[in-house]
Amino acid sequence: MAIQSENRPVLSLQGVCKAFGGIIVAEDISFDVSSCEMMGLIGPNGAGKTSLLNMISGIYSMDKGRIMFGDVDVSKAPAHKRARLGLARTFQAPRFLQRSNIRDNLLLGTDLADQYTFFQSFIGKKSKDFEEELSELMEIAGFTFDWDDLIAAFPYGRLKILEIVRAMLSKPRILLIDEPAAGLNDIEIGHAVALLKLATEKRGMGVVLIEHKMDMVMNNCHNIVVLNFGKVIAKGQPEMISKNKDVIEAYLGRGYDVAN
Ligand SMILES: Nc1ncnc2c1ncn2[C@@H]1O[C@H](COP(=O)(O)OP(=O)(O)OP(=O)(O)O)[C@@H](O)[C@H]1O
Ligand SMILES: [Mg+2]
Repeated sequence: MAIQSENRPVLSLQGVCKAFGGIIVAEDISFDVSSCEMMGLIGPNGAGKTSLLNMISGIYSMDKGRIMFGDVDVSKAPAHKRARLGLARTFQAPRFLQRSNIRDNLLLGTDLADQYTFFQSFIGKKSKDFEEELSELMEIAGFTFDWDDLIAAFPYGRLKILEIVRAMLSKPRILLIDEPAAGLNDIEIGHAVALLKLATEKRGMGVVLIEHKMDMVMNNCHNIVVLNFGKVIAKGQPEMISKNKDVIEAYLGRGYDVAN
């Protein structure tokens, strides 16, 4: 499942370092993500995966290193600027405006894409595109909703999938996804995977996927970066990673087979 190497990286991490007090969460981390590429970011609990996503999206600052987004150095850019440049993300625990309805929660995402105000993005000339895209995404998401449905009434699995939909609606170039499969049943995982494959294969997005469900990572990612105690201990294609002794020792455990 090699991704064409002539693709120029959209996201490039160069020597990223970060510590919280005495805890090193990122030590000289470098990797690239190209358009159309699904990059897995795996490792044990506390390895520093979410912290790295927070640094890429601008929620955490780095101590050292550089993050390039295309030709733009975003190392010091605030989160909203990175979002406008085309970075979107989901959270390990889904984040929505709990007291609002679906309309408000989803439009929050598209507003970023078109740099429209809330109101314009709903009724403006882009709204047709928006509705077409939304209905295509929801078909893949595997459920429907009414605009006025309250977010608080949605089951957890659907919220996690809806978060991916919301991120995709902003038409990002890079999609950062933190543990989409946690708490989802197998059918829901299938829907989440289908959305991420649409993102890479049809929409040309680069995806960084953090996930503990190894089948999902091994079967869908083109490349994988493995973190342990804030360090990259292996980088490469799934077949190679699944056989890497350091990775098996630190994370996968013995007996993992990519064909599982
Ligand atoms: N804001 C923070 N302040 C202090 N320590 C933090 C902060 N954020 C993360 N850490 C610490 O950094 C380390 C890495 O945490 P992180 O959440 O990035 O791990 P993770 O790889 O995402 O783990 P998991 O698989 O459990 O989600 C942990 O020791 C965590 O306690
Ligand atoms: Mg995490």
